[in-house]
Amino acid sequence: MPYEVKPLPFTKELTGISKKTMDIHHGTLYTGYVNKSNAIEEGIKKADKAGANATYSEIGELKRQQSFAVNGVYLHEAYFNCLGGDGKPTGALVDWIKRDFGSYENWEADFKAAGMAARGWVILAYDFHKRKLCNYSADVHNQGGIWGCASLVVLDVYEHAYFIDFGANRKGYIDAFMANLNWKAVNETHKVLITQCGAK
Ligand SMILES: [Fe+2]
Repeated sequence: MPYEVKPLPFTKELTGISKKTMDIHHGTLYTGYVNKSNAIEEGIKKADKAGANATYSEIGELKRQQSFAVNGVYLHEAYFNCLGGDGKPTGALVDWIKRDFGSYENWEADFKAAGMAARGWVILAYDFHKRKLCNYSADVHNQGGIWGCASLVVLDVYEHAYFIDFGANRKGYIDAFMANLNWKAVNETHKVLITQCGAK
């Protein structure tokens, strides 16, 4: 089944993050990742498998770039899913955050620090190995991801996510992200992890 460009899951204007920034995200970058994911998938079907080689081969490059393009799709969709709310932490996910980080404030301090330190992404994930929530970061779409985790709150800290609105003030952007966080939506994802994936 081909990847599809999904509409943004929110319609309200964000506080501090402009429509122009979201258009760049959604219209240009995310759409590009969707299109390239489909092109790569088609390319893999036709690629010369007999010539596979770890130094250079058609199939090797397609597989390598597939992990970049598909993660670009999934991470952006998870990021969009986190936006459009009022930022007021509520719901069962917040209870789990308190359980696993000691307090909401501990989690937020760690998440924001990861946001200042990462070059690409910060992810509040449920780690199925540890059976707890963890903050992880990835410097590139396809580097730094931890296998066996499901993403809940995803923050994009690439420059394109904030430079138009905040210049080099990444901290201001992270504060704006938190103020727009859609806790209702991320609690829905959390519920799916409990009811369908055995998270506890
Ligand atoms: Fe992005």
